[in-house]
Amino acid sequence: MGPPGAGKGTQAQILGALWKIPHISTGEILRACVVAKTALGLKAQAYMDRGELVPDQLLMDIVQERLNEPDANAGWILDGFPRTVTQATFLDKLLHELSGAEGSTSNPKCGLKAVNLDVPDDILVSRLLSRGRQDDNEETIRRRLQVYREQTEPLIDFYSGRQQLVAVDGDRAMELVTAELQQSLSIDS
Ligand code: AP5
Repeated sequence: MGPPGAGKGTQAQILGALWKIPHISTGEILRACVVAKTALGLKAQAYMDRGELVPDQLLMDIVQERLNEPDANAGWILDGFPRTVTQATFLDKLLHELSGAEGSTSNPKCGLKAVNLDVPDDILVSRLLSRGRQDDNEETIRRRLQVYREQTEPLIDFYSGRQQLVAVDGDRAMELVTAELQQSLSIDS
């Protein structure tokens, strides 16, 4: 988790490669659907262009399908999901089902960790403006930040109350953020 530009995608990609587990970005899946002009992409594009969240049910279907693929059996990093309490509650239910699925090597004892990358707003805006993705214009960035505060930030309390939250200062050099995440999320321990 973390606001737009916090470094979710950057860190998830690095850690996924290090740990040899898939990096699953719901934003990337949606952007690929938009480019391919699939029915899902056509539905999602207007929301994404406005900086709004795409409806929960579409995202829950995407994640359910993706986590059922064989390469997700031994672990994964979800980037940008969950983003609402509805999505987080759904993820709990899905993980429960998956851990009991026949042939699954998922270990329910490993449990779920939710990472929040914290970065001040002015840094976020300047990072995104210099990246220049289609939804990286000032108006959409402001809306994405507002939507994050209203709909996603409540998940910090949701996961913290369950001792599942790892909070990390994302306003540092990328390698320092990676090192802290490796330490806090070590899958060897
Ligand atoms: P998504 O693709 O998830 O976008 P986002 O949350 O706005 O996040 P960003 O990709 O902008 O930022 P990031 O935190 O990944 O940072 P990054 O590593 O790229 O979602 C896009 C849209 O899809 C949403 O608005 C919504 O419409 C829809 N959507 C997706 N998931 C959804 C869901 N679950 N429910 C409903 N709708 C959903 O880094 C940003 C820049 O900063 C890069 O240029 C990077 O090089 C740089 N950078 C990173 N780390 C550092 C650092 N430590 N120091 C300096 N620069 C850094």
